[in-house]
Amino acid sequence: MANTTQISQTDSEDLLHSLPKEKGWIGLPLYQYQGSWCHAKGIEAALSLQNHFHACDSDVILVTTPKSGTTWLKALAFAILYRHKYTFSQNPLLTDNPHDLVPFFEFKLYANNQLPNLSDLPSPRLFATHIPYSWLPESINNSKCKIVYLCRNPRDTLVSYWHFTNKARPEALGPLSLENGLDLFCKGITGFGPFWDHALGYWNKNLERPQKVLFLKYEDLKKDIKYQLKRLAEFMGCPFTMEEEKNGVIDEISRLCSFQRLSSLEVNKSGKSIDYFENRTLFRKGEVGDWMNYLTSPMVEQLDEVMEEKLSGSGLTFDMYPQL
Ligand code: A3P
Repeated sequence: MANTTQISQTDSEDLLHSLPKEKGWIGLPLYQYQGSWCHAKGIEAALSLQNHFHACDSDVILVTTPKSGTTWLKALAFAILYRHKYTFSQNPLLTDNPHDLVPFFEFKLYANNQLPNLSDLPSPRLFATHIPYSWLPESINNSKCKIVYLCRNPRDTLVSYWHFTNKARPEALGPLSLENGLDLFCKGITGFGPFWDHALGYWNKNLERPQKVLFLKYEDLKKDIKYQLKRLAEFMGCPFTMEEEKNGVIDEISRLCSFQRLSSLEVNKSGKSIDYFENRTLFRKGEVGDWMNYLTSPMVEQLDEVMEEKLSGSGLTFDMYPQL
Protein backbone atom coordinates (compact mmCIF):
# COMPACT_ATOMS: atom_id res chain seq x y z
CA MET A 1 0.00 0.00 0.00
CA ALA A 2 1.51 3.30 -1.03
CA ASN A 3 2.41 5.52 1.95
CA THR A 4 0.83 3.17 4.49
CA THR A 5 1.83 0.28 6.68
CA GLN A 6 1.23 -3.23 5.33
CA ILE A 7 -1.21 -5.17 7.52
CA SER A 8 -1.42 -8.95 7.37
CA GLN A 9 -4.72 -10.46 6.33
CA THR A 10 -5.06 -12.48 9.53
CA ASP A 11 -5.31 -9.24 11.44
CA SER A 12 -8.19 -8.00 9.33
CA GLU A 13 -10.98 -9.12 11.69
CA ASP A 14 -9.40 -7.36 14.64
CA LEU A 15 -8.82 -4.41 12.42
CA LEU A 16 -12.50 -4.20 11.41
CA HIS A 17 -13.61 -4.23 15.06
CA SER A 18 -11.37 -1.27 15.76
CA LEU A 19 -12.67 0.93 12.92
CA PRO A 20 -15.38 3.61 12.93
CA LYS A 21 -18.54 2.13 11.43
CA GLU A 22 -21.65 3.62 9.78
CA LYS A 23 -24.77 2.12 8.28
CA GLY A 24 -24.12 2.07 4.54
CA TRP A 25 -26.44 2.88 1.65
CA ILE A 26 -27.61 -0.68 1.07
CA GLY A 27 -27.85 -1.66 4.71
CA LEU A 28 -24.36 -3.21 4.94
CA PRO A 29 -22.00 -1.36 7.29
CA LEU A 30 -19.24 0.81 5.90
CA TYR A 31 -15.99 1.03 7.88
CA GLN A 32 -13.62 3.97 7.87
CA TYR A 33 -10.15 2.66 7.15
CA GLN A 34 -7.26 5.11 6.71
CA GLY A 35 -9.69 7.89 5.92
CA SER A 36 -11.84 6.03 3.37
CA TRP A 37 -15.20 4.31 3.81
CA CYS A 38 -15.56 0.76 2.57
CA HIS A 39 -17.51 -2.43 3.23
CA ALA A 40 -15.73 -5.17 5.20
CA LYS A 41 -15.10 -7.42 2.21
CA GLY A 42 -13.61 -4.53 0.26
CA ILE A 43 -11.11 -3.78 3.02
CA GLU A 44 -10.14 -7.43 3.31
CA ALA A 45 -9.70 -7.68 -0.45
CA ALA A 46 -7.62 -4.48 -0.51
CA LEU A 47 -5.32 -5.90 2.18
CA SER A 48 -4.92 -9.09 0.22
CA LEU A 49 -4.25 -7.11 -2.96
CA GLN A 50 -1.51 -5.18 -1.21
CA ASN A 51 0.14 -8.33 0.00
CA HIS A 52 -0.11 -10.44 -3.13
CA PHE A 53 -0.46 -8.41 -6.31
CA HIS A 54 2.63 -7.88 -8.45
CA ALA A 55 2.15 -5.28 -11.14
CA CYS A 56 3.77 -5.71 -14.54
CA ASP A 57 5.03 -2.71 -16.46
CA SER A 58 2.50 -3.41 -19.21
CA ASP A 59 -0.55 -3.53 -16.87
CA VAL A 60 -3.34 -1.00 -17.19
CA ILE A 61 -5.44 -0.32 -14.07
CA LEU A 62 -8.80 1.42 -14.45
CA VAL A 63 -9.95 3.35 -11.39
CA THR A 64 -13.27 5.04 -10.64
CA THR A 65 -15.55 5.94 -7.78
CA PRO A 66 -18.79 3.94 -7.98
CA LYS A 67 -21.31 5.32 -10.50
CA SER A 68 -18.89 7.52 -12.40
CA GLY A 69 -18.90 5.46 -15.60
CA THR A 70 -16.87 2.38 -14.64
CA THR A 71 -18.77 0.07 -16.99
CA TRP A 72 -18.26 2.47 -19.90
CA LEU A 73 -14.54 2.92 -19.17
CA LYS A 74 -14.04 -0.84 -18.94
CA ALA A 75 -15.70 -1.32 -22.32
CA LEU A 76 -13.71 1.48 -23.97
CA ALA A 77 -10.33 0.38 -22.61
CA PHE A 78 -11.02 -3.28 -23.49
CA ALA A 79 -12.09 -2.38 -27.04
CA ILE A 80 -9.02 -0.19 -27.60
CA LEU A 81 -6.40 -2.39 -25.98
CA TYR A 82 -7.49 -5.65 -27.63
CA ARG A 83 -8.66 -4.24 -30.98
CA HIS A 84 -6.14 -6.31 -32.95
CA LYS A 85 -7.33 -9.50 -31.29
CA TYR A 86 -11.06 -9.32 -32.00
CA THR A 87 -13.14 -8.19 -34.96
CA PHE A 88 -16.02 -5.85 -34.19
CA SER A 89 -18.63 -8.43 -35.18
CA GLN A 90 -17.14 -11.01 -32.80
CA ASN A 91 -16.09 -8.75 -30.00
CA PRO A 92 -16.50 -10.26 -26.50
CA LEU A 93 -18.25 -7.03 -25.50
CA LEU A 94 -21.24 -8.27 -27.51
CA THR A 95 -21.64 -11.36 -25.36
CA ASP A 96 -20.04 -10.54 -22.00
CA ASN A 97 -20.64 -7.72 -19.56
CA PRO A 98 -17.62 -5.35 -19.30
CA HIS A 99 -17.25 -6.32 -15.62
CA ASP A 100 -16.62 -9.93 -16.65
CA LEU A 101 -14.01 -8.87 -19.20
CA VAL A 102 -12.17 -6.42 -16.95
CA PRO A 103 -12.29 -7.80 -13.41
CA PHE A 104 -12.35 -5.71 -10.27
CA PHE A 105 -9.56 -6.47 -7.80
CA GLU A 106 -11.84 -6.13 -4.78
CA PHE A 107 -15.15 -7.58 -6.04
CA LYS A 108 -13.71 -10.43 -8.05
CA LEU A 109 -10.00 -11.30 -8.11
CA TYR A 110 -9.19 -10.83 -4.43
CA ALA A 111 -12.75 -11.15 -3.08
CA ASN A 112 -13.59 -13.74 -0.43
CA ASN A 113 -9.96 -14.54 0.40
CA GLN A 114 -9.20 -15.78 -3.10
CA LEU A 115 -5.63 -15.63 -4.33
CA PRO A 116 -5.78 -15.56 -8.11
CA ASN A 117 -2.92 -16.69 -10.30
CA LEU A 118 -2.57 -13.72 -12.61
CA SER A 119 0.91 -14.47 -13.89
CA ASP A 120 -0.40 -16.55 -16.80
CA LEU A 121 -2.65 -13.82 -18.15
CA PRO A 122 -1.49 -12.51 -21.53
CA SER A 123 0.03 -9.07 -21.61
CA PRO A 124 -1.19 -6.35 -21.47
CA ARG A 125 -3.38 -7.19 -18.50
CA LEU A 126 -6.36 -4.97 -17.78
CA PHE A 127 -7.75 -4.64 -14.24
CA ALA A 128 -10.14 -2.34 -12.43
CA THR A 129 -10.67 -1.06 -8.93
CA HIS A 130 -12.56 1.50 -6.86
CA ILE A 131 -9.92 1.67 -4.14
CA PRO A 132 -8.33 5.02 -3.24
CA TYR A 133 -4.83 5.89 -4.42
CA SER A 134 -3.31 5.56 -0.95
CA TRP A 135 -4.50 1.93 -0.73
CA LEU A 136 -2.83 0.77 -3.95
CA PRO A 137 -0.09 -1.84 -3.61
CA GLU A 138 3.48 -0.55 -3.77
CA SER A 139 4.13 -2.48 -6.97
CA ILE A 140 1.51 -0.48 -8.84
CA ASN A 141 3.19 2.68 -7.68
CA ASN A 142 6.72 1.49 -8.36
CA SER A 143 6.26 -0.28 -11.69
CA LYS A 144 5.69 1.42 -15.02
CA CYS A 145 2.10 0.20 -15.18
CA LYS A 146 -0.51 2.80 -16.11
CA ILE A 147 -3.50 4.06 -14.16
CA VAL A 148 -6.57 5.49 -15.90
CA TYR A 149 -8.91 7.39 -13.59
CA LEU A 150 -12.44 8.37 -14.60
CA CYS A 151 -14.33 10.96 -12.57
CA ARG A 152 -17.87 12.32 -12.88
CA ASN A 153 -19.49 15.49 -11.57
CA PRO A 154 -20.65 14.99 -7.96
CA ARG A 155 -24.31 15.91 -8.61
CA ASP A 156 -24.82 13.21 -11.25
CA THR A 157 -22.66 10.76 -9.29
CA LEU A 158 -24.84 11.25 -6.22
CA VAL A 159 -28.11 10.79 -8.14
CA SER A 160 -26.78 7.72 -9.94
CA TYR A 161 -25.46 6.24 -6.67
CA TRP A 162 -28.79 6.87 -4.95
CA HIS A 163 -30.79 5.14 -7.71
CA PHE A 164 -28.37 2.24 -7.86
CA THR A 165 -28.14 1.54 -4.15
CA ASN A 166 -31.90 1.72 -3.74
CA LYS A 167 -32.18 -1.16 -6.21
CA ALA A 168 -29.92 -3.22 -3.97
CA ARG A 169 -31.47 -2.37 -0.58
CA PRO A 170 -33.34 -5.18 1.10
CA GLU A 171 -37.10 -4.63 0.86
CA ALA A 172 -37.42 -4.73 4.64
CA LEU A 173 -35.32 -1.57 4.95
CA GLY A 174 -37.42 0.39 2.45
CA PRO A 175 -35.90 2.91 0.07
CA LEU A 176 -33.30 5.44 1.21
CA SER A 177 -34.56 9.00 0.74
CA LEU A 178 -32.55 11.32 -1.49
CA GLU A 179 -32.24 13.71 1.48
CA ASN A 180 -30.56 10.99 3.54
CA GLY A 181 -28.39 10.02 0.58
CA LEU A 182 -27.28 13.62 0.16
CA ASP A 183 -26.39 13.88 3.86
CA LEU A 184 -24.31 10.71 3.68
CA PHE A 185 -22.59 11.90 0.47
CA CYS A 186 -21.78 15.29 2.04
CA LYS A 187 -20.33 13.55 5.12
CA GLY A 188 -18.10 11.59 2.75
CA ILE A 189 -19.84 8.30 3.61
CA THR A 190 -20.04 6.47 0.28
CA GLY A 191 -18.37 3.27 -0.84
CA PHE A 192 -14.64 4.12 -1.24
CA GLY A 193 -15.46 7.75 -0.37
CA PRO A 194 -15.22 10.54 0.51
CA PHE A 195 -15.84 11.27 -3.15
CA TRP A 196 -13.54 14.34 -3.04
CA ASP A 197 -10.61 12.54 -1.38
CA HIS A 198 -10.87 9.74 -3.93
CA ALA A 199 -10.84 12.15 -6.87
CA LEU A 200 -8.13 14.37 -5.39
CA GLY A 201 -5.88 11.39 -4.66
CA TYR A 202 -5.73 10.55 -8.36
CA TRP A 203 -5.97 14.17 -9.55
CA ASN A 204 -2.85 15.12 -7.60
CA LYS A 205 -0.97 12.06 -8.86
CA ASN A 206 -1.97 12.99 -12.41
CA LEU A 207 -0.47 16.45 -11.87
CA GLU A 208 2.66 14.94 -10.36
CA ARG A 209 3.10 12.01 -12.76
CA PRO A 210 1.02 12.54 -15.92
CA GLN A 211 2.68 9.59 -17.69
CA LYS A 212 1.55 7.33 -14.84
CA VAL A 213 -2.00 8.54 -14.21
CA LEU A 214 -4.45 9.70 -16.87
CA PHE A 215 -7.39 11.68 -15.46
CA LEU A 216 -10.58 11.50 -17.51
CA LYS A 217 -13.98 13.06 -16.91
CA TYR A 218 -17.32 11.44 -17.81
CA GLU A 219 -18.61 14.77 -19.13
CA ASP A 220 -15.60 15.08 -21.50
CA LEU A 221 -16.26 11.59 -22.84
CA LYS A 222 -19.86 12.59 -23.54
CA LYS A 223 -18.73 15.85 -25.17
CA ASP A 224 -16.05 14.52 -27.53
CA ILE A 225 -15.65 10.77 -27.38
CA LYS A 226 -13.36 10.61 -30.41
CA TYR A 227 -10.79 12.97 -28.95
CA GLN A 228 -10.91 11.22 -25.55
CA LEU A 229 -10.52 7.80 -27.16
CA LYS A 230 -7.37 9.01 -28.91
CA ARG A 231 -6.01 10.29 -25.57
CA LEU A 232 -6.82 6.99 -23.91
CA ALA A 233 -5.23 4.88 -26.66
CA GLU A 234 -2.09 6.99 -26.69
CA PHE A 235 -1.80 6.86 -22.90
CA MET A 236 -2.20 3.08 -22.85
CA GLY A 237 0.64 2.80 -25.38
CA CYS A 238 -1.45 1.77 -28.40
CA PRO A 239 -2.24 4.97 -30.34
CA PHE A 240 -4.55 4.76 -33.35
CA THR A 241 -2.75 4.86 -36.69
CA MET A 242 -3.79 7.31 -39.41
CA GLU A 243 -5.09 4.33 -41.33
CA GLU A 244 -7.23 3.12 -38.42
CA GLU A 245 -8.61 6.60 -38.05
CA LYS A 246 -9.36 6.78 -41.79
CA ASN A 247 -11.02 3.36 -41.65
CA GLY A 248 -13.38 4.46 -38.90
CA VAL A 249 -11.95 2.30 -36.09
CA ILE A 250 -12.43 5.03 -33.48
CA ASP A 251 -16.06 5.50 -34.52
CA GLU A 252 -16.63 1.74 -34.36
CA ILE A 253 -15.25 1.60 -30.81
CA SER A 254 -17.35 4.53 -29.69
CA ARG A 255 -20.49 2.92 -31.20
CA LEU A 256 -19.75 -0.51 -29.74
CA CYS A 257 -19.33 0.95 -26.24
CA SER A 258 -22.17 3.47 -26.42
CA PHE A 259 -24.90 3.43 -23.79
CA GLN A 260 -27.47 2.55 -26.49
CA ARG A 261 -25.47 -0.38 -27.86
CA LEU A 262 -24.31 -1.92 -24.57
CA SER A 263 -27.64 -1.52 -22.79
CA SER A 264 -29.50 -3.22 -25.61
CA LEU A 265 -27.38 -6.41 -25.54
CA GLU A 266 -29.00 -9.53 -24.11
CA VAL A 267 -26.16 -10.12 -21.62
CA ASN A 268 -26.64 -6.64 -20.19
CA LYS A 269 -30.41 -6.95 -19.98
CA SER A 270 -30.50 -10.25 -18.13
CA GLY A 271 -27.14 -11.35 -16.69
CA LYS A 272 -25.46 -10.78 -13.33
CA SER A 273 -21.75 -10.00 -13.02
CA ILE A 274 -21.32 -8.48 -9.55
CA ASP A 275 -22.84 -9.63 -6.25
CA TYR A 276 -26.07 -7.83 -5.33
CA PHE A 277 -26.64 -6.29 -8.76
CA GLU A 278 -28.26 -7.35 -12.03
CA ASN A 279 -26.34 -6.16 -15.10
CA ARG A 280 -29.30 -4.09 -16.23
CA THR A 281 -28.98 -1.88 -13.14
CA LEU A 282 -25.62 -0.70 -14.51
CA PHE A 283 -27.38 1.09 -17.36
CA ARG A 284 -29.91 3.71 -16.32
CA LYS A 285 -29.81 6.96 -18.35
CA GLY A 286 -26.17 7.64 -19.09
CA GLU A 287 -26.57 11.41 -19.38
CA VAL A 288 -24.95 14.56 -18.05
CA GLY A 289 -27.28 16.76 -15.97
CA ASP A 290 -29.89 14.24 -14.86
CA TRP A 291 -29.39 15.68 -11.34
CA MET A 292 -31.65 18.55 -12.48
CA ASN A 293 -34.59 16.12 -12.34
CA TYR A 294 -33.90 15.22 -8.70
CA LEU A 295 -31.96 17.80 -6.68
CA THR A 296 -33.76 20.89 -5.37
CA SER A 297 -31.93 24.23 -5.15
CA PRO A 298 -31.21 23.84 -1.39
CA MET A 299 -29.85 20.34 -2.06
CA VAL A 300 -27.55 21.65 -4.79
CA GLU A 301 -26.39 24.42 -2.42
CA GLN A 302 -25.63 21.89 0.31
CA LEU A 303 -23.59 19.72 -2.04
CA ASP A 304 -21.82 22.61 -3.76
CA GLU A 305 -20.77 24.12 -0.46
CA VAL A 306 -19.02 20.92 0.58
CA MET A 307 -17.45 20.38 -2.83
CA GLU A 308 -16.19 23.96 -3.07
CA GLU A 309 -14.58 23.69 0.34
CA LYS A 310 -13.00 20.30 -0.31
CA LEU A 311 -11.78 20.98 -3.85
CA SER A 312 -10.73 24.58 -3.29
CA GLY A 313 -7.27 25.32 -4.64
CA SER A 314 -6.94 21.91 -6.30
CA GLY A 315 -7.79 23.05 -9.83
CA LEU A 316 -10.28 20.18 -10.17
CA THR A 317 -13.59 21.38 -11.61
CA PHE A 318 -16.61 19.69 -13.17
CA ASP A 319 -19.11 20.37 -15.95
CA MET A 320 -22.61 20.04 -14.49
CA TYR A 321 -24.66 20.63 -17.63
CA PRO A 322 -25.06 18.70 -20.88
CA GLN A 323 -23.62 20.26 -24.00
CA LEU A 324 -26.35 21.77 -26.14
P1 A3P B 1 -26.80 7.00 -14.59
O1 A3P B 1 -27.28 6.33 -13.35
O2 A3P B 1 -26.66 8.49 -14.41
O3 A3P B 1 -27.57 6.66 -15.80
P2 A3P B 1 -20.82 2.75 -13.13
O4 A3P B 1 -20.55 2.02 -14.39
O5 A3P B 1 -19.59 3.37 -12.53
O6 A3P B 1 -21.59 1.94 -12.19
O7 A3P B 1 -21.68 4.04 -13.51
C1 A3P B 1 -23.01 3.88 -13.90
C2 A3P B 1 -23.44 5.12 -14.63
O8 A3P B 1 -22.85 5.11 -15.93
C3 A3P B 1 -24.94 5.10 -14.84
O9 A3P B 1 -25.31 6.48 -14.89
C4 A3P B 1 -25.06 4.44 -16.20
O10 A3P B 1 -26.27 4.66 -16.85
C5 A3P B 1 -23.88 5.08 -16.92
N1 A3P B 1 -23.42 4.28 -18.06
C6 A3P B 1 -23.32 2.93 -18.16
N2 A3P B 1 -22.86 2.58 -19.36
C7 A3P B 1 -22.65 3.73 -20.05
C8 A3P B 1 -22.18 4.01 -21.36
N3 A3P B 1 -21.86 3.05 -22.22
N4 A3P B 1 -22.10 5.31 -21.74
C9 A3P B 1 -22.44 6.30 -20.89
N5 A3P B 1 -22.89 6.10 -19.63
C10 A3P B 1 -23.00 4.82 -19.21
